[in-house]
Amino acid sequence: MEQAFVILRHREIPDIQQLGTYIKDGGYEAWKRAVKEMTADQVIDVVKASGLRGRGGAGFPAGVKWSFVPKNVFPKYVVVNGDESEPGTFKDREIIEQNPHQLVEGVALCAYAIQAEIAYIYLRGEFKAPARILQAAIDEAYQAGLLGKNIQGSNYSLNIYLHLGAGAYICGEETALLESLEGKLGQPRLRPPFPANVGLYAKPTVINNVETLANVPPIVRKGAEWYRSFGTEKSPGTKIFCLSGMVKRPGNYEVPLGKIKIRDLIFGEEFGQGLLAEGRTVKGVLPAGASAPVLPESALDTLLDYESVAAAGSMLGSASFIIMDNTVDMVWAATKMVHFFKHESCGKCTPCREGTYWMLNLLEKIDHGHGEQRDVIMLGNVAQQMLGGKCFCLLGDFSTSPVISTLKHFRNEYDAKVQLTPDGGVGTHGAHG
Ligand SMILES: Cc1cc2nc3c(=O)[nH]c(=O)nc-3n(C[C@H](O)[C@H](O)[C@H](O)COP(=O)(O)O)c2cc1C
Ligand code: SF4
Repeated sequence: MEQAFVILRHREIPDIQQLGTYIKDGGYEAWKRAVKEMTADQVIDVVKASGLRGRGGAGFPAGVKWSFVPKNVFPKYVVVNGDESEPGTFKDREIIEQNPHQLVEGVALCAYAIQAEIAYIYLRGEFKAPARILQAAIDEAYQAGLLGKNIQGSNYSLNIYLHLGAGAYICGEETALLESLEGKLGQPRLRPPFPANVGLYAKPTVINNVETLANVPPIVRKGAEWYRSFGTEKSPGTKIFCLSGMVKRPGNYEVPLGKIKIRDLIFGEEFGQGLLAEGRTVKGVLPAGASAPVLPESALDTLLDYESVAAAGSMLGSASFIIMDNTVDMVWAATKMVHFFKHESCGKCTPCREGTYWMLNLLEKIDHGHGEQRDVIMLGNVAQQMLGGKCFCLLGDFSTSPVISTLKHFRNEYDAKVQLTPDGGVGTHGAHG
């Protein structure tokens, strides 16, 4: 299976970040056509028909989200989620640095579709160099009359602004992002109301991921049917898979959804080319960074699309595949991930603030060889108690994934660690261990 470069166009056309080259490849054709000849609803309809699903994690259909925005409330906003903070995710950065005009054009088409005249692109604070590249592309687009007032002689005007965050994973959560953009502490908002109705500055707002919007220009230019020629019925188009961990060739790979298996991504000549160290086997795969349940080796024949990864017991999410070989201590790996979530918990709600703290305490105790069997049981209980809508946002649920999935697939590793304690893990250390 060949890669297909719908978004990573620079892999075929290296200097596509320059406006002239981007235009020669058909760039801004869709944008010019939209402002001159298409109604806002026609743009929404083609994106809806394409079946494009959000690439930031949840996979919600982009065109459907745009159609929720009320028509008669102004101003409205487009906010682009370029926070890219999930461990192992590095696709948005490549789009911004190498093919920035496709993102700018996608933002413009989304703004036109909902009739917003202001768009903000929120980038993670560390993206200073990518921000300079993106700003240069935005400036070029203004100079070419593609942004600004009365674009291409139409009645439509659009300004795009860049905003750098201050380094918090929670600011990737869309409502915390809005708070941060408004200059407040980055903590999630209660939903409903959803941002489509009450978003930035309490106005209707569409929030989409960088990769999601980079898909839009080719969809509007070439049509929904063309887009649907990639991927599957329920997961149309291509997806960028971020491959990292113990593989020979880590990197971003753009592939039609549902056409290759996890095994192909790791071992395929065109992709990961196998494990870094000879003679080892795959022990665990994290399909969506630290947030989604780890999959065992038995899941390697799972197809790479939203439905198949969910059926295998995990989530495709942002498709950041971290590969762990058989030398990885899974209790240690879970400890590392929960440490991340404990650090990044914004502290707004008790189940997450306290739950991440207690999961980390128990994991460190077990990992360091001081645990007892009842600590393993309590660890599972703490994680389970955080689920079922008790946490204010999904970060709390995500933080339980490393615990619940490693307990499910690698319980023997926990048991082996507690059996190393002097009492054989039966618990003679008193009530407080
Ligand atoms: C804790 C947390 C972190 C998130 N981080 C990101 C992120 O870095 N980038 C992103 O695009 N979406 C992130 N999301 C998902 C967003 O909340 C939202 O679903 C997404 O921006 C919507 O865009 P899409 O429909 O194009 O995927 C995160 C969600 C949660 C709960
Ligand atoms: S679940 Fe965690 S990150 Fe989300 S609001 Fe509660 S404390 Fe903050």
